[in-house]
Amino acid sequence: MFKIGVLVSGGGTNLQAIINSINNGFIKNAKIETVVSNKDNVFALERAKNNNIETKVIKVKDFDNKQLYEQALIKYLKEKDLDLIVLAGFMVILSKEFVNSFENKIINIHPSLIPAFCGEGYYGLKVHQGALDRGVKITGATVHFVTEEADAGPIILQKEVFVKDDDTKETLQKRVMEEAEWIILPQAINLILNKQIKIVDNIVRRI
Ligand code: GAR
Repeated sequence: MFKIGVLVSGGGTNLQAIINSINNGFIKNAKIETVVSNKDNVFALERAKNNNIETKVIKVKDFDNKQLYEQALIKYLKEKDLDLIVLAGFMVILSKEFVNSFENKIINIHPSLIPAFCGEGYYGLKVHQGALDRGVKITGATVHFVTEEADAGPIILQKEVFVKDDDTKETLQKRVMEEAEWIILPQAINLILNKQIKIVDNIVRRI
C-alpha cells in the first residue's frame, strides 16, 4: 500500500479531491496515512475526520523557532513511513533541511502556470489577483516536486484555465480549482505511485 501524508492549512478541497480519487478507485492501492495542519479548526481537518483519516495539528507558534517546528514535523512524518507527502494548500514555506529529509517525495499544488505568479508572497487568492492585475488571458495550475526554492521544483503536470473579462479573484480561484487543481493533483499522484515518471536534470520525464 502506497502511503500518503497530506499537509494542509485551510479548506482542504484538494485533500478532498485526493480522498475522492482513492474512494472512487481512480487512485489505486494508496492510503492517506495522516493529514497534518499548521492551524487548528480548519475545514480540511473535518474532511479527514469524516473519512476516518488520522489528523495532527503542529503549529509553528508552539515552538521557539521555525527550525524546531520543522524538526517536530519531520519526526512525525518519518514515523509514518510515507511514500509521498502532498502539500495541498499548505501555507508554510519549508526549509532545505525539511526538503532534504524527504528527497523527491514531496509535491505541491500551485494555482498558476509556473513560472508565472509563484514564489514567496504568491499564495492563495494573491496568485489570482496577480493574474488579474497582469491581465493574462490564460492561467491554470501546476503540480511540482518541492525543492528548497519556493515553487521552483521540477514540474509534473500543468493545466490551463481561461480568464474571463468579468472574473474576480474569487471566481478565478474557484474555476482554477474545479478545472485544473482537482484534476491534475490526483493524476500527478498516480504518475508517481505507478512509477511513470523520473527526474532527469531537474526535468520530469515519462518513463
Ligand atoms: C489552492 O488553490 C492551492 O492551489 C493553493 O491554496 C489553495 C488551497 O485550497 N496553494 C497555494 O497557493 C500554495 N502556494 P484548499 O485548501 O481548498 O485545497
